[in-house]
Amino acid sequence: MLQVVFRSQLTKLLSYTDIQKLCLISARNNRKAGVTGFMVECGGVFLTVIEGETREAEETFNRIRHDSRHDHMEIVYSENGLERRRFGAWSMNLMFLDDDTFWQTVFGSGFSCDELLSSRALEPAFALGLLAMAYQYACAQAKIAPHPTGVRPGRIPRIGHMFRR
Ligand SMILES: Cc1cc2nc3c(=O)[nH]c(=O)nc-3n(C[C@H](O)[C@H](O)[C@H](O)COP(=O)(O)O)c2cc1C
Repeated sequence: MLQVVFRSQLTKLLSYTDIQKLCLISARNNRKAGVTGFMVECGGVFLTVIEGETREAEETFNRIRHDSRHDHMEIVYSENGLERRRFGAWSMNLMFLDDDTFWQTVFGSGFSCDELLSSRALEPAFALGLLAMAYQYACAQAKIAPHPTGVRPGRIPRIGHMFRR
């Protein structure tokens, strides 16, 4: 399986509702393709992870790459030959990171959205760590197992489970 982690920036700001709709459409597409994923957003910058069988994940990524609603796309990390999904709970879900509380609670005071918004290349370990922490947090809030064992991974999120802090 292939995992791709990428950062990108909205070309124009979207409302919370528009971002939630984008997430729902993504989740529905991904579910059909057996792709799972998660994304965090802050100030119009997205950090997204998608996972799936190589062909499906590549197809999905190529579609996302050509979406004119975002640019400055940077692949932060990719791994082929993944044995099991690390973000398998939802076909796609989203967490807004626009409140410092998340950063303070989960990471201590050393980090903030600034890291994500910075023009410097994002450290893969930081990006994966951030996604993993946000994902664990979201799963706990939604009372959903982070590593589902069912035949079809990746459920469609409820709007109420797209976390706005
Ligand atoms: C940050 C970001 C992440 C996205 N993630 C996905 C995704 O995981 N799956 C997906 O199908 N579309 C995703 N999209 C939306 C696609 O770019 C595209 O709009 C959508 O798949 C519909 O494509 P179509 O108009 O060619 O059918 C994402 C868009 C953005 C901006």
